[in-house]
Amino acid sequence: MKKRKRALITGITGQDGSYLAEYLLKKNYEVYGLVRRTSLDPMMRIETVAHHPNVRLIYGNLRDSASIARALNESKPDEIYNLAAQSDVGISFKCPEETMEVNYFGLGRLLIEAMTIVPKAKIYHASTSEMFGDTRPPQNETSKFSPVSPYGVAKLMAYEDYVRGYRKKYGMFICSGILFNHESPRRGEHFVTRKITISLAKIKLGLQQCLILGNLNARRDWGFAGDYVRAMHMMLQQKKPGDYVIATGVSHSVRDFVEAAAAELDMTMSWSGKGTKEVGKDRSGNVIVKIDKKFYRPREVHDLRGDSSKARKELNWKPELSFTELVRMMTRADLEMIATRRRS
Ligand code: NAP
Ligand code: GDD
Repeated sequence: MKKRKRALITGITGQDGSYLAEYLLKKNYEVYGLVRRTSLDPMMRIETVAHHPNVRLIYGNLRDSASIARALNESKPDEIYNLAAQSDVGISFKCPEETMEVNYFGLGRLLIEAMTIVPKAKIYHASTSEMFGDTRPPQNETSKFSPVSPYGVAKLMAYEDYVRGYRKKYGMFICSGILFNHESPRRGEHFVTRKITISLAKIKLGLQQCLILGNLNARRDWGFAGDYVRAMHMMLQQKKPGDYVIATGVSHSVRDFVEAAAAELDMTMSWSGKGTKEVGKDRSGNVIVKIDKKFYRPREVHDLRGDSSKARKELNWKPELSFTELVRMMTRADLEMIATRRRS
């Protein structure tokens, strides 16, 4: 009988980790997940995958080499997916050291341990479109990196020193996905898309008056997380390691996302005013969107739109869900979740 492949996922409690775990389980992998100690038990936080008999959770932390070594010894993975990160760009300005510790040194600790414990393992690392920073779209693998946040800087250092560096120096099989923004009903509630879908659903149900946002003009290339984890797996099935931009190729502004989510909820919107005085009103003239400077970042990435031709050609990857379908999926899920909570 063919031996089942083993995968270790760091960041399994996050959005991507949960979709990836489900995807690998369907492919008959044995899935291990590194989880850090938190006040709320991780078993409570990943309802979707935690109770599956093939997901084995191992306590550990990317800040702790001994725990990483133990996780590798226990799981002996064929494939490692390093998704763990301090992934909030806004917070990275407030907690730059934590961001550097996990997003840069964390990968270094993992690679150093993997090199001796599982030298043949194939490794995926989560890079990001935030590394492009100021560079104008469309961005691809050859575009200039010009990060503007501590998050982007830490991810770029990890990419240059460890992904490219260790691949070259030690011949390790390390791929990195330069993923553009991807969302889902499991997206963390502080990211702008989820904040919008939750707040508008609450406004629709009369549980909240107003959604307060920062920069409405920022543009992002938003795809569906379920589509993006397929690409991570595809990268590790290649003969040679590489770096791939994963994106839809279409961008929208934060304002567009608000309008699309409102339309899904049958809430027609109109905008008036400028800058921080801008407001969005519903058809009865109630102000349902306002701006607060506190949600602006010290430095902003204004415009991201990825060119994923390389992944489409070499991996045969393409996204399946459109922007409209993504907004519909997220809006409906939040409306249902909030209506259910209200009933119970
Ligand atoms: P997420 O939902 O914020 O999940 C982050 C995960 O990292 C969580 O499981 C978190 O655990 C874990 N983690 C944080 N610090 C850790 C530490 N010190 N040790 C071990 N685990 C730790 O992020 P995501 O959206 O799934 O993103 C996955 C990866 O892709 C991240 O590296 C992110 O930077 C990158 N990325 C994401 C996007 C996107 O649009 N989603 C785009 C490009 C790149 P807790 O549950 O305990 O907090
Ligand atoms: N979070 C947030 N909250 N963002 C807001 C708000 C708000 O109230 N108002 C406007 N925005 C703008 C931000 O300034 C940014 O330009 C845009 O909305 C998207 O913000 P986020 O959803 O927080 O995502 P991000 O693009 O900064 O970072 C995400 O994508 C990166 C890939 O490009 C994260 O998932 C990162 O981990 C990932 O690497």
